[in-house]
Amino acid sequence: MNKKLIEKIEQLKQAHNAVVLAHNYQTADIQDLADFTGDSLGLSINAAETDADVIVFCGVKFMAETAAILSPEKTVLLPDELAGCPLADMITVEQLRDLKQKHPDALVVCYVNSSARVKAESDYCCTSANAVEVVESLPTDREIIFVPDQYLGQFAAERTARDLILWPGYCHVHVAITEDDIKNAKAKQPDAIVMTHPECTGPVKALSDQMLSTGQMLRYAAKSKAKQFIIATETGIIHTLKKQNPQAEFIPATDRAICPNMKRITLEKVLWSLENMQYKVTVPQEIRIEAKKAIDMMVEILPR
Ligand code: 13P
Ligand code: SF4
Repeated sequence: MNKKLIEKIEQLKQAHNAVVLAHNYQTADIQDLADFTGDSLGLSINAAETDADVIVFCGVKFMAETAAILSPEKTVLLPDELAGCPLADMITVEQLRDLKQKHPDALVVCYVNSSARVKAESDYCCTSANAVEVVESLPTDREIIFVPDQYLGQFAAERTARDLILWPGYCHVHVAITEDDIKNAKAKQPDAIVMTHPECTGPVKALSDQMLSTGQMLRYAAKSKAKQFIIATETGIIHTLKKQNPQAEFIPATDRAICPNMKRITLEKVLWSLENMQYKVTVPQEIRIEAKKAIDMMVEILPR
């Protein structure tokens, strides 16, 4: 069944000169089918560099929007139009404008998990892979607003010793990972390295060994000599961690860490997206130009 589906997808990919990009939280079959898998930063770079005419983005809407901002000449498809990110929806452009009015001299850093309109209203974009470097690069005599994820913002504030004005957004998947989850996992596997996504809460991060984006987790595991890892992020990444490191064991901090929006994408929907060229993600030109300025900072200037 899957074999037939995959064959059809491959044929349509060729016919449309399409590339399939998948986030590390996608299901195993989608990750295996994709031409590129990665974290938000890696996928943005791939979207900007590919010479395909069509990008099928297996992820959530803000990721497809980022691809559309970077590659306006390409057709960007999101196989499920309802695959959103509740964290990205936690701040509107009007709320950001209000915050900017209260701090008129502040620079605005927005996490890539945000709408195109919020990016357009920001000075710098960042991902979990480079939030610290972005904040570090900013002049010390300016206030900094950081939206929308308070836990990534806290992490960047601690690492850079900067005082950030934080927005109270959060990812429901990552805040559901608790201190007890880490303590229980460590009690069973005391030698395991705990790799945690910076969207987790402060107390969870305090119990962790490494705070990393999903792409950084993959690179860290590949270089490490450790044999066991506790993974405090969405469990989809464990498929690729296991595939790339068959000698090591990867234990989810909790099986509850599943992003229902990421899991909306299925092989069938990828096929339908190529058959019907659906669902096209576009960004109005005036928003795109402003949002691109903020995204260029992270794609071109900052290290991965
Ligand atoms: P990464 O950029 O680390 O892949 O994270 C994306 C995301 O949505 C985290 O929840
Ligand atoms: Fe958004 Fe959280 Fe899902 Fe990432 S895991 S896409 S931040 S809801």
